Amino acid sequence: MTAGFEDKVALVTGAGRGLGFAIARALHEAGAIVALNDRTEQSCADAIARLGGGDRLIAAAADLATGDGPACAVALAGARGRLDILVNNAAVNVERPIEATDDAHWDLHLSVILRASFLTVQAALPMLKPGRGCVLNVASELGLHAIANNVAYVSAKHGLIAMTKAMAIELAPEGVRVNALCPGTMNTELMRDCANDSGDPDAYYAAFARYHPLGRLASPEEIAAFAVCLLSPAAAFMTGAAVAIDGGSTAGRL
Ligand SMILES: NC(=O)c1ccc[n+]([C@@H]2O[C@H](COP(=O)([O-])OP(=O)(O)OC[C@H]3O[C@@H](n4cnc5c(N)ncnc54)[C@H](O)[C@@H]3O)[C@@H](O)[C@H]2O)c1
Repeated sequence: MTAGFEDKVALVTGAGRGLGFAIARALHEAGAIVALNDRTEQSCADAIARLGGGDRLIAAAADLATGDGPACAVALAGARGRLDILVNNAAVNVERPIEATDDAHWDLHLSVILRASFLTVQAALPMLKPGRGCVLNVASELGLHAIANNVAYVSAKHGLIAMTKAMAIELAPEGVRVNALCPGTMNTELMRDCANDSGDPDAYYAAFARYHPLGRLASPEEIAAFAVCLLSPAAAFMTGAAVAIDGGSTAGRL
């Protein structure tokens, strides 16, 4: 799918690896100019090199957990004078039970997932509005239901979906669409980190595969393809939606 992306400028946060990188690659292949954000200059440069470089790729390094990080990423992405697409993908996910969730843990999850997503949209609006652009907030199936021992992440992702709806309503009169994507478990580096932390990676992966009625994890590439569809003119009548692409996990249990 390439229609509608030529000359569009897109910012993808957390694009150094995982789903963010896959979305950046898919948008780039669809013809967009893509700004890749991640925490460090090096991770942005590495990701751009993996995409082959060229003048349709922009480094937009900034730590989104810092006060001016979100505005800085938007400024770097919009340096050519336009920004049409914003994908808020960056996240952290460290599972902890309630008693072990201290202020720093809570604040990190809320600041990267929720606060930074709000601030990037706020900073991008002067460029998104004239072009009737669109925003995709990468939430999670865990924005739609909960699991134990992950209260900070689950709370932030539920908040991100609420924010998506609030922004969609406020920005609809200006033609700016805001949607949320709710993936099930993907085979990304984040998943690998969680699996390694568990002490038994094979059992961890198998449990997650069983947890999805379709019996497997998703690839970041298949989720990225769907994200591009949501950002395309094919989804022009869609705003304020939280779309699950989760192998059936939020529909029920086998
Ligand atoms: N992996 C899964 O199974 C899964 C499932 C549902 C939803 N999600 C969501 O999908 C998105 C991508 O997940 P992933 O698995 O690719 O994660 P990942 O950890 O592999 O990648 C996240 C990226 O965000 C970056 N990032 C983190 N904090 C940042 C900050 N402060 N500033 C800038 N960049 C920062 C990281 O450096 C990394 O490159 C996240 O929003 C995640 O919550 C993932």
